[in-house]
Amino acid sequence: MREVFPEMALWHRGPPLYVGEVKFERKIPTRILLLRLLKYITPYKREVTLTLIAIIASSISNMISPYILGREIIAKYILRADLAGLQIVILVFLGFLVLGWIANMVRTYLVGKIGENMLFQMRSELFNHLQTLSFSFFDRWNIGDIVSRVTNDTDSIGEAFTEGVIHVLSDIMSLTLVIGMMLAVNVQLTLASMVTIPLLIVSTLIFQSKFRTVFRVTREKISQVTSKLEESLSGIREIKSFNKERDFIEDFQKVNLETMQANIRAAKIQGAFFPTVQVIQAIGSGIVMIYGGILAFNGALGSIEDAVGTLVTFLLYVQTFFRPIQELTNFYAIIQSALAAAERIFELLDIQPEVKDSENAIEMPPIKGEITFENVTFGYDPNHPVVNNISFKINPKETIALVGPTGAGKSTIVKLLCRFYDPQQGSIKIDGYDIRMFTQKSLRKQMGIILQETLLFSGTIKDNIRYGKPDATDEEVINAAKAVGAHEFIMNLPNGYETKVGEKGLGLSFGQKQLIAFARAILKDPAILIMDEATSSIDPYTDLLIRKAMRTLLKDRTAIIIAHRLSTVRDADRILVINNGRIVEEGSHEELIKRKGLYYRLYQMQFKDVESLSKPVIGNEEISSISRK
Ligand SMILES: Nc1ncnc2c1ncn2[C@@H]1O[C@H](COP(=O)(O)OP(=O)(O)OP(=O)(O)O)[C@@H](O)[C@H]1O
Ligand SMILES: [Mg+2]
Repeated sequence: MREVFPEMALWHRGPPLYVGEVKFERKIPTRILLLRLLKYITPYKREVTLTLIAIIASSISNMISPYILGREIIAKYILRADLAGLQIVILVFLGFLVLGWIANMVRTYLVGKIGENMLFQMRSELFNHLQTLSFSFFDRWNIGDIVSRVTNDTDSIGEAFTEGVIHVLSDIMSLTLVIGMMLAVNVQLTLASMVTIPLLIVSTLIFQSKFRTVFRVTREKISQVTSKLEESLSGIREIKSFNKERDFIEDFQKVNLETMQANIRAAKIQGAFFPTVQVIQAIGSGIVMIYGGILAFNGALGSIEDAVGTLVTFLLYVQTFFRPIQELTNFYAIIQSALAAAERIFELLDIQPEVKDSENAIEMPPIKGEITFENVTFGYDPNHPVVNNISFKINPKETIALVGPTGAGKSTIVKLLCRFYDPQQGSIKIDGYDIRMFTQKSLRKQMGIILQETLLFSGTIKDNIRYGKPDATDEEVINAAKAVGAHEFIMNLPNGYETKVGEKGLGLSFGQKQLIAFARAILKDPAILIMDEATSSIDPYTDLLIRKAMRTLLKDRTAIIIAHRLSTVRDADRILVINNGRIVEEGSHEELIKRKGLYYRLYQMQFKDVESLSKPVIGNEEISSISRK
C-alpha cells in the first residue's frame, strides 16, 4: 500500500508528504511515543548491541578513508614518489574498505531482523487487541481505518526503523567522527569550514517547519484510500445493484487524487531543500579552498605536499560532513511520518473494551436457563435510550418470540443478554444471577447465537459446523447436521463435509447457510438459544426444512427468537411485542390477535401475506402437521 505512486518513488525519497492547512498536533508526546516504540526492540538487546558495533565500524572506515587518501596516499607517497610505501598504504586503505563492507552487511541483516520482529510483534498485538474489543468499538470505527492502521501504519514504522533510525545513528556517528578528524588535522580549517553551519541550520529549520505540519494528514489520506477500497469491495453487490459504480469510482478518484497532489506538493518542498543544501555545501568547499589556499601560501600547512594532502582531505571531509546533515533532515521526514503512524497505532491499542469481565468474575456453572430483565435501560448513546426500563422473565425451556416494528429495539435486547453491551441501568439475570458476575467467555459458552446473516468462515463445511464446539467428533458434526436436516444437501456438495466454503465459487444459498448455522448451534447444545430470524424470503421447500430444524433446535432449551415468520410466532410459548424500546403487549398468538392492538396490526401487514403465499405451494395439511406440536 505504501507505494501508491511507483512513478513518484523514483525521484521522491522518503514517505509521502502532504502540505496542507491542518495544524500538526500530536495527542501523545514524542517522548512517550519513542519510549513505547523502544519497548518493541528491548528483547533484541544482543542484536542491537551488535548493530551499534557494526555502525561504529562502518563509520570509522568511512571517516578514515579521506585521511588516508589525502594525507597519506597523495601527500606522503604519490607526491613524494614513494612507490614501496604506496603499496603498503593502499593495502591498509583496502583493509578499511573491506571492514566497512562487512560492517554494512552485518548491519543491514541485523536491522532487517530486528525490524521484522518488531513489526510481527506489533501486528500480532493489534490483531489480538482488536479481538478483545466490544461491539461498541466496531460501531464507531471505520473498518478501513482500522485495516490501514494494522497494515500501512505498521509498515511506516518498519520503514522508519530500518531506513530512518539506523541512518540517523550512522549519521550522528559520522558527524562526530568527521569533526574529530578535521580538528585533529587542522583546527583553523575546521573552524573555517564550519562558517556555513548557521546557514545550514537556518535553512533546515525553515524547511522542517513546512514538513512538520503534514504527516498526520498524510497517514489519514492513505487511510482514506484504504477505507474507500474496503467499503467498495464489501459493498460491491449493493453498488452494482444500484448502478453506483461511477459514484464510487469518482469518490475513489477524489481521495486518490488528493493523496497524489499532497505528495507532489510535498515533493516540491523536498525538491527545493536538497539543492539549497548543495549550494551551502559548495560555499563551504569554496571557503575551505580559499582559506586553505591562503594558509598554504603562508606556509601554515607545512611543505607543499602536506598542504595538497591536507586540502584534499579537507575537501573530502566537507563533502562527508554535509551528507549526514542532509540525510538527517531527509530522515526527519520519515521519522515524523512514523511517529504519526505510531500514534495512530497506540491510539488503537489504548482503547479499552467497554464490556469487561469484572475482577472477581467466575465461570458460569451449568444453568437451567431462566432469564430475567429487571428495569433494563440502555442506549448506544447513553442520552438516547433505545431500551426503556424493560422488565420480563422467561422460564427455563420456554420459547419467546420478540415481535415489533423495525428499530423497536429487539436486536438490542438480545445483544444485551449476550452482554455485547452493558445496560446503563437495571440488571439482566440468568438463573437469578446477574450476568456481570460471570466471565463473558463462560456466559457465551452456554448460549447459541444465530444471527440474521450467517457468516461462514473460510474452511470446510465441517470446520464451520464445528465452530461452536471445536472438540466435536466427526460423528457429532454429522449427527448435528442430520438433526437439522442439513445432511442431505451437504452430501450433495462436491466433497461432502470436506467441501471448502468460499473457494472457487462455492457459494451456498441463504437457506443452506441458515441450516449450517442451525447445525452449529445444535452441536453446541446451549442452554439458551438466541436467534435473529432471517428476513430474506426463501423458497417453500427450504422454508419447510428450516421450520422442521427449528423444532429440533428449540426443544429442551430456553429460546428467544426475533421472529419474522408466522410459524415461529405461532409456535412460541409467549410473544413479547416491542415498540420504542418498551414491551407493549404480551401473550400467545391467539390472545394477541383478539386484542386487536399493535400485534394485530403487524400481523395484518407482515405475517398474513406470508401465510397466504406459502399455502398453495406446500399444501395446508403439511403446514398444519408441522406447526402443530
Ligand atoms: N450499533 C448501533 N449504534 C447506534 N444505534 C443503534 C445501533 N444499533 C441499533 N441502533 C438504534 O437502536 C434502535 C433499536 O435498534 P434495533 O437494532 O434493536 O432494532 P430492531 O428492533 O432489531 O429492528 P429490526 O427489526 O429492523 O432489526 C434503532 O433506533 C437503531 O437505530
Ligand atoms: Mg434487528
